[in-house]
Amino acid sequence: MSEYVIPHKHEITHGDRVRRNGYRPYLIWFTGLSGSGKSTLASALESKLFQDKFHTYILDGDNIRAGLNTDLDFTESSRKENIRRISEVSSLFLDAGIMVLTAFISPFEEDREQAKEIVGKDRFIEVFVDTPLEICEQRDVKGLYRKAREGKIPNFTGIDSPFEEPVFPDIHIKTTAQSIEQSLAALYSAVLKKIDS
Ligand code: ADX
Repeated sequence: MSEYVIPHKHEITHGDRVRRNGYRPYLIWFTGLSGSGKSTLASALESKLFQDKFHTYILDGDNIRAGLNTDLDFTESSRKENIRRISEVSSLFLDAGIMVLTAFISPFEEDREQAKEIVGKDRFIEVFVDTPLEICEQRDVKGLYRKAREGKIPNFTGIDSPFEEPVFPDIHIKTTAQSIEQSLAALYSAVLKKIDS
């Protein structure tokens, strides 16, 4: 940042928004392989939180890459920039008082740590959607794994680009051990516990 950029302090503060809304907003950060179920679970969880009382918003990989991040590809440096921008955007949404759910592969530990730093670790909840590569590849909902195996998509996560599993996620959902409904129920109650504590 240039030394000649001087941020303005506005009259309405984050505290004012929190008091008006009656809750503290959190960033619920989903990480996992492509096709692991991040978007499905984030969407289902958002519906529940929205019905409760929260203002919510989802930032989702494929959607954000179609707009804000259309200039980024899947090289390591672009993925880092993808996650950095999302972290900053999430921080703005949180400041506005909105509960944010993000669904990005976010394969690098360092970038997830940076996200945590940017928004503050007391309002960051990391959810590892743990679906093994073999299962994601079997499902291949978007047909991308097959194309990646054929060498048509370079740097595909799990094939020729790494996924660093979170070591201590706040919430660990093993999707193969249970149904979507069971995963959602476990996720919802774990999130409520974090929000209340
Ligand atoms: S991230 O690695 O930078 O966090 P992001 O979540 O934004 O990825 O985008 C992942 C989605 O982009 C996948 O679900 C898939 O639909 C699509 N995609 C296209 N190319 C790739 C690739 N090389 N690796 C992974 N996903 C890809």
